[in-house]
Order: sequence, then C-alpha cells, then structure tokens
Amino acid sequence: MRSWMIVSSYAPPLHSPSPYPLFSLHVLRHFALSIAPDYKIPVGKIAIFTDDPGWHGKQLQLAFAGYGYASTYASLTECRLRIAAGSLPLLIPGFEESLPDAVFVRGVPGGSLEEVVLYLDILHALKILGIPVYNDGQAIERSVDKGMTSFLLHNAGLPTPLTWVLRNREEALAIAGQELKNGHFLISKPLFGSQGEGIRRVEKMTDLIWLTSSRGVYYLQRFVDCAGEGFSDHRVFVINGLAVAAMQRRGKFWLNNVARGASCEPITLNTGLADLAVKSAAALNMDYAGVDIIEDRAGRYTVIEVNSIPAWKGLQSVCEVNIAGLLVDDLINRRIHKPRFINNAVDEKSLSNNAEIIDNGSIPNPFGRTL
Ligand SMILES: Nc1ncnc2c1ncn2[C@@H]1O[C@H](COP(=O)(O)OP(=O)(O)O)[C@@H](O)[C@H]1O
Ligand SMILES: [Mg+2]
Repeated sequence: MRSWMIVSSYAPPLHSPSPYPLFSLHVLRHFALSIAPDYKIPVGKIAIFTDDPGWHGKQLQLAFAGYGYASTYASLTECRLRIAAGSLPLLIPGFEESLPDAVFVRGVPGGSLEEVVLYLDILHALKILGIPVYNDGQAIERSVDKGMTSFLLHNAGLPTPLTWVLRNREEALAIAGQELKNGHFLISKPLFGSQGEGIRRVEKMTDLIWLTSSRGVYYLQRFVDCAGEGFSDHRVFVINGLAVAAMQRRGKFWLNNVARGASCEPITLNTGLADLAVKSAAALNMDYAGVDIIEDRAGRYTVIEVNSIPAWKGLQSVCEVNIAGLLVDDLINRRIHKPRFINNAVDEKSLSNNAEIIDNGSIPNPFGRTL
C-alpha cells in the first residue's frame, strides 16, 4: 500500500520531464515488486531507429512490450549531437530527458556522405555512452559497404566469390572482358545497395557498354552458378552466434531477393550452412545477421552478403521460431543490465544483478530513467 503512494507521487507519464529523487535500492525494489503486475509501468525504454516501422517495427514493439519495455520509433534524420556542458550530448526524439536503455537499429537512411557520417556518429556516440546499440555502428558501417564485407569475409578465411573493388573504368572493363573470355558471368553491384537494387549481370561483351560505377566505384564479382534447378540461395539468420532460422530463396531469375519476387521455402539447417553463417556474422562482429549463402554446382557454400539490418518477414513466414522475440530476448538479456519483467513479474535475479551495478557505481541510478 505504501508503495502505491510512492507510485502516485513519483510515477511519471512516459515522456514527461523526470527529475527523480535518488531512491534507495530497498525502496526501489519494494516499489518495483509491488507495482509491476498491476500498473505495467515499463522497466525501460527502447529507441527503434527507423523511418518506416511497418511490420518489423510492430513485431519489435510487441516483443519489447512482452518484456516490460516501452519502445519508440525514432528517425536518425531527426537526431542531433549537442555538445554543451551539463546537457545530454545526444538528442533523440522521444528521449529528450534521458537517453534510451538500448537502441535497436532497423534502418539507417541514405544521404550525402556527411549525412550518413552523422547517422553513424550518433550510433557510435550511443555506444561510447554505454548504451547498447543493436547492431552497433561499426557492424553496420562495415556491412553496408560490400567491399569491406568481402574483404572481411576473405580475411577470416571464409569462402566468398572472387571480387574486385576499384575506381578505374579501363581496369574494370579489362577485368570484365577477361572474366567473360574465361567463361564466367560477372555481377556488378552498387557498393551500398540492398534488396537487389542496382545489381546487373554482365553476360556478353556488348554488356560492357553499360558497365557503370556506383558513384565512382566499381564492385565486380564473379557470378556463382547455383546448385539445383533454376536460381536459389540461402538466407540464414544468426543471433548471438547461433543460427536460429534459415530458408531457401528461389528467384524468378538470378536475383534471389524477396523484394525482387523470390519465394521463401523452409529448409532444415545442416551443420555446414549453420557453421558458415555463424562464422560470417562473427567476421563482421554482429550481434545478429542475415547471411546470404549460395551453394555452387559443386555443392560448396559461398557467402554473398552479411546483412546487419536484415528484414525477416519472409523468413518468419516459413519458420517456427519467433524471430522478433529472439532478437529482443538477446538484446535484453545479454546487453541490457536492468531489472526486467517476465510475464508481469519482476525478475528477482536481474534486480540483484542490478544491485551490483549500482554498488560499484558504474551506472548511476539506472532506475531513475524509467520508474
Ligand atoms: N556473385 C554472385 N553470384 C550469383 N548470384 C549473386 C552474386 N551476388 C549476388 N547474387 C544474387 O543477387 C542477390 C543480391 O545480392 P547481394 O550481394 O546479397 O546484394 P543485396 O544487398 O542487394 O541483397 C543475391 O541474393 C544473389 O541471388
Ligand atoms: Mg542480399
């Protein structure tokens, strides 16, 4: 009953200014335990960076809510750095008074080099401030750049197609011509593309006329003929070093992106595929990843791409596990050090973990942001 009084005195609406007094851990604990089931005050607030929440945003919000977390969509285009004494160095819409407990990155908008650098600065700054960013700025930065992805995969000793990244047009034409002469098709991709956009296949010498760079850079890759009938590749979803779901994507032509009309078919993961996907995610240092893998005519797997902001709507339609639930579970349990609700009850263990965090002073009053 006493804690109800505390609730009515101090519990704020979600986004109101909140200069909370510093509660003792004892009061907080008593407070949280008594109000949790009835009032469902969120144990924390998550920012979901996206300009187009859609189905994925909804799935994430539902999953966060299941853990007692409120989540708010925010656009990176509206975030700012504010370097001034005594104020938050980062402004995120909806988090003006206190920064979120974690950030889930569902989209990084395109833009000029300066704009994209600012978006990445915001992700890097959040990480430096100790706020979990899922996936973090470095993983995103490396994986949106197909050249760096190919380099890192190869550097980790993982199979990935023969690839060239260069600026000089004459050299690009010479490479393409040589590949065609040797009986290989060549793929040309924008360095920063996704969902199959801007990808072309060079099949004959006359195709070289339209071979264009992507803003001055050519990304050329030997085409891998896939095993089996028609065109297909695999999408393997990895979370925290585990391959949790997979599907085969069957393209209407050689582009197997779901956004380009490919159909999704369930598959059973074999060890080779799972192992390669997990190693690929590790090579790019990702919390989670959507890994594109082609099986060639000789039955060897080769990694095409490692996505740090993968969509999972198609995959969800053919797999049993709840992907949004697994992502949120991983982010909350592995990356956030706060008490949490499970089925409307406060998790005692996480409260005592938090006591250690408060005691060693590394996170001052983590409750102050939400309760
Ligand atoms: N080297 C390649 N050999 C054969 N098919 C490829 C190759 N590279 C890409 N593709 C096809 O194009 C699709 C999109 O390529 P990807 O590199 O994953 O770019 P995006 O980011 O646009 O998805 C792949 O899923 C695959 O079907
Ligand atoms: Mg892809």
